[in-house]
Amino acid sequence: MEEKLRIIEKDARQAMASAGSLEELNEIRLKYLGKKGELTQVLRGMGALSAEERPRIGQVANEVRASIDQELAARTTVLKELAIGQRLKEEGIDVTLPGVPVLRGGRHPLSIVSEEIQTFFLGLGYSIADGPEIETDYYNFEALNLPKDHPARDMQDTFFINNQTLLRTHTSPVQVRTMEKMAPELPVKIIVPGKVYRRDDDATHSPMFSQVEGLAVDRRITFSDLKGTLDLFAREMFGPKTKTRFRPSYFPFTEPSAEVDISCVMCGGKGCRVCSHTGWLEILGSGMVHPQVLEVSGYNSEQVTGFAFGMGVERITMLKYGIDDLRVLFDNDLRFLQQF
Ligand code: DAH
Repeated sequence: MEEKLRIIEKDARQAMASAGSLEELNEIRLKYLGKKGELTQVLRGMGALSAEERPRIGQVANEVRASIDQELAARTTVLKELAIGQRLKEEGIDVTLPGVPVLRGGRHPLSIVSEEIQTFFLGLGYSIADGPEIETDYYNFEALNLPKDHPARDMQDTFFINNQTLLRTHTSPVQVRTMEKMAPELPVKIIVPGKVYRRDDDATHSPMFSQVEGLAVDRRITFSDLKGTLDLFAREMFGPKTKTRFRPSYFPFTEPSAEVDISCVMCGGKGCRVCSHTGWLEILGSGMVHPQVLEVSGYNSEQVTGFAFGMGVERITMLKYGIDDLRVLFDNDLRFLQQF
């Protein structure tokens, strides 16, 4: 009987090793290990063995079974791999080819700079406010101390929709809108990032551009607060060596008003082509909020003061990255955008 078992072992292993497919292998498995399989038949005959023989033959039978199982498992693995290889070949997939790279998007330089500005002021405790891009004459001009026929209206070429409605020319109207909502609550500390529109179009002007407005109103806010805030801002944005210069200026909604320059980012103040050999670059307009603007917004100008400022995000982006034509910011040319 032992001999019989060893023969079955040898035959089964040989047959399995040469099986050409998983189906064939399964047939062989049934032939030997199935209910009516050869090994099964032999084992059934074990009952007829004597008590001395049974344990020894039983052990041989177990060895044979294990040996056949082992070959079965090994051949199954090989045949499965072959089958996969075959399918890949038929379907024409070469898994060793490099994959198709997934293009990752990036942030637009204007978004990067706008968010940097916002992050800075959020850190100083400002909140973000917004208002409509289609604005009324009242908020865009009147409430900001620019009555009809005021010559300062000519500072901004405007897209009117009708007599009373226009595309806002600056983010300053959101100063009034926000104060109206908050009065008499103090302090008011907001920044207003947003798009604005002017009838302007050349290498440094676009009919649509972005501003960030700032407004701080409280008891005892002074011009030094404005200077300290913007000086810190300039150093944060353009590097710790940056100097600021406040030049007297005029805006109808601030008194006094100042234009703020930073030391030239290219030459550090020595004078070069970028700063027209002055050593300075203008970055924003600012001033102390005009009492009239506080009053129309619901604040008592005898009791509170405030400062405000407004900057162009395109201009700051151009200075920060040394971009000399504003229009590349709107062309959506990936060769330009991928540099950020
Ligand atoms: N609104 C002005 C503009 O668009 C910029 C500006 C100047 C805003 C002075 C201010 C300010 O808040 O105080 O040209």
